[in-house]
Amino acid sequence: GTGKFFVGGNWKCNGTKDSIKQLVSDLNSATLEPDVDVVVGPPFVYIDQVKSSLTDRIEIAAQNSWIGKGGAFTGEISAEQLKDIGCKWVILGHSERRHVIGENDEFIGKKAAYALGQNLGVIACIGELLEEREAGKTFDVCFKQLKAYADAVSSWDNIVIAYEPVWAIGTGKVASPEQAQEVHVAVRDWLAKNVSPEVASKTRIIYGGSVNAGNSAELAKKEDIDGFLVGGASLKGSDFATIINSVT
Ligand code: G3H
Repeated sequence: GTGKFFVGGNWKCNGTKDSIKQLVSDLNSATLEPDVDVVVGPPFVYIDQVKSSLTDRIEIAAQNSWIGKGGAFTGEISAEQLKDIGCKWVILGHSERRHVIGENDEFIGKKAAYALGQNLGVIACIGELLEEREAGKTFDVCFKQLKAYADAVSSWDNIVIAYEPVWAIGTGKVASPEQAQEVHVAVRDWLAKNVSPEVASKTRIIYGGSVNAGNSAELAKKEDIDGFLVGGASLKGSDFATIINSVT
């Protein structure tokens, strides 16, 4: 793999004060491999609670951020505010924001550029729908999404790419290690050709989509899988710890 293994837990729109208190307590007492970057993404309203109770060993990501500076944008949260409450990362371009909320490539690229400018790390998500895979368009879709980031950002130093095939998200249908590896290699080649060989070799490409405590070790063996973005299984501290510790 490339660089340090990176495991993110995307809690999505889940949790209560009580359930998050329990999850934080489980994470605080878990034994985690030292050589892994670990990040959790609580819902906005619980970030402060998590920040004040979670071990510093684990960094915090927001699940979205506004495209620019704050102001009269009802319901939005700015990158400056995320920095202010102690976030180090933001997840952008997640399939649920693309396909449920309707965010497009250009909007996501601009959000990434703005967040990077505020010194947030960006977990930049890409991934194809089932119908796109079946039509043989997986690489085309991923490259188009990558290009939108590349067109907008001036540095890849604080970007982790998350490849999340939409058909694998929340479905229990994990990509095989070979399927994931094939796309990760293609993403790395795209970066080498379209950004630079240095960025291609340094940028971590993590996999997301039905990763769990039983399948993470096999996926982690693949050369170009540099970590995971975990949804459902990140809501259980012991399973998330097992996934973190599947680093090879
Ligand atoms: O961001 C995380 C992904 O959407 C994966 O979710 O592990 O529940 O399939 P999942």
